[in-house]
Amino acid sequence: DYTAEPFLPAKVGRGKAGLRALREAAEECRGCPLHRNTTGTVFGDGDPHARVLIIGEQPGDQEDRRGEPFVGPAGRVLDRALEEAGIDPARSYVTNAVKHFKFEYASGGRGKRRIHKAPSLREMTACGPWLAAELALLAPEVIVVLGATAGKALFGSSFRVTRERGELIEREVHGRSERLVATIHPSAVLRADDEDRDDVREGLVSDLRVAAAALR
Ligand code: URA
Ligand code: SF4
Repeated sequence: DYTAEPFLPAKVGRGKAGLRALREAAEECRGCPLHRNTTGTVFGDGDPHARVLIIGEQPGDQEDRRGEPFVGPAGRVLDRALEEAGIDPARSYVTNAVKHFKFEYASGGRGKRRIHKAPSLREMTACGPWLAAELALLAPEVIVVLGATAGKALFGSSFRVTRERGELIEREVHGRSERLVATIHPSAVLRADDEDRDDVREGLVSDLRVAAAALR
C-alpha cells in the first residue's frame, strides 16, 4: 500500500538540522500518487522551538506554487485569528497532515483552475510518517488541530471536530503524551455564507484562545 516510509532518512539530527534533513528528504517522496501533478512537496515550516504546533490538512494552490504551508487565503485567516487569540504566528510551527496538494481541474470555465480535493484515508496514512517524524523533533506545549483531516490523521477516523473542538485534550500521540486543541479549518471561514462568516471566525478565535491559555 502507499507509504512515505522508505523515503524517510534512516537517521536525522535533532532540532533545526533534523527538520532540515526531513524537509530535503520529503522533496523526493513518492510514497503516494499525490506528488505526480504538483509543483513539489510542501513541508512544515516555522520555529523549531515553537511552543505551538499547528497542523492543517494539505497545501492549497498557492502553497503548492510557493512551497510553503499556509501562505494563501486560508493562511491569512489563520494568522489573523492566531494574533487575535494571542498566539504569535511567527513563533509557531505550521505543517499539514498531507504534504502534497490534491486537486482537480475546474470543469467548464477557463480550464486550468485547480480546485482542492480532500485527501483520502490512504493518502493520509501514507503521509503520516512525515508528520510523526516532525512531531518527534518538536516539543510543543500545545498542538492546534485544524479541521477533520488533521484530527483523523492524529486520532483515527472516528474523530469529529464538532465534538472535540475548543477543549484542551490530553492524549497519547505517537507514543508521547500531548496537549491538543482541535478547531475548525480556517477555510471554513472562507466558505461560510456572508451572514455567518463573523460567527464562524469568532468560533475559530475562541478555540484558539483555549490553546493560548494552555501555554505554560
Ligand atoms: N490549508 C491547509 O490545510 N494547509 C495549508 O497549508 C493551506 C491551506
Ligand atoms: Fe509522499 Fe505525502 Fe506527498 Fe504522498 S502526499 S507523495 S506520502 S509527501
